[in-house]
Amino acid sequence: MSIHIAAKPGEIAEAILLPGDPLRAKFIAENFLENPRLYSEVRNILGYTGTYRGKRVSVQGTGMGIPSLSIYVNELFRDYGVRRAIRVGTAGAIQEELKIRDLVLAMSASTDSGANSFRFGGRHFAPTASFSLLKTAYEKALAKGWLPKVGNVVCSDMFYTEDPEEWKLWAKFGALAVEMESAELYTLAAKYRREALTILTISDSLVTHESTSPEERQTAFTQMMETALETAIS
Ligand code: HPA
Repeated sequence: MSIHIAAKPGEIAEAILLPGDPLRAKFIAENFLENPRLYSEVRNILGYTGTYRGKRVSVQGTGMGIPSLSIYVNELFRDYGVRRAIRVGTAGAIQEELKIRDLVLAMSASTDSGANSFRFGGRHFAPTASFSLLKTAYEKALAKGWLPKVGNVVCSDMFYTEDPEEWKLWAKFGALAVEMESAELYTLAAKYRREALTILTISDSLVTHESTSPEERQTAFTQMMETALETAIS
């Protein structure tokens, strides 16, 4: 076991899905995987391994924000040999043309976080998705008749910002949506030479102030999950 994950060596698959919410990990394991088995519940961060279409896949919560995700993803890459990590989450739209329930593939992640400033001593690393996962996810979604938006997202350290208009600067430069984990996921994938992708559904809009109803969330969620699982096993 690692410090924060109780799995034994070999209990975590090479491909893993990473929702923020640990109960979402449980829901995914119970509704999308065959024969899911719980491998860790340290701090109630649940992790399961099962199969999808006969191929081994794990799913584990990361908690919210860069510091929490960073702990789990470091251990998954370093101690458990995870090779493909796909974050599945929600984001707030910052472009008017992005609608609630839209599927977003994060090609790159800008950030206001201090994590990479600290890590790179003030230099500016560009956290980028795995091209092969991005291409596969795009093709898998298209094949199902869904058209994902692909582009830069903003990975913020603050859900409650001091300046409620702060997102507008990122929007001016074409960023699609705000979330809180991808810059660190992509940076760690680069460090450990692994593959990572973030797939998001738009849960709310900072532009129009709309948000999703539970039923709408469910449909969008299923599209995101099928895209992520098909990508994870290919
Ligand atoms: N900000 C940050 N993360 C989010 C948001 C948001 O508005 N919506 C969903 N995840």
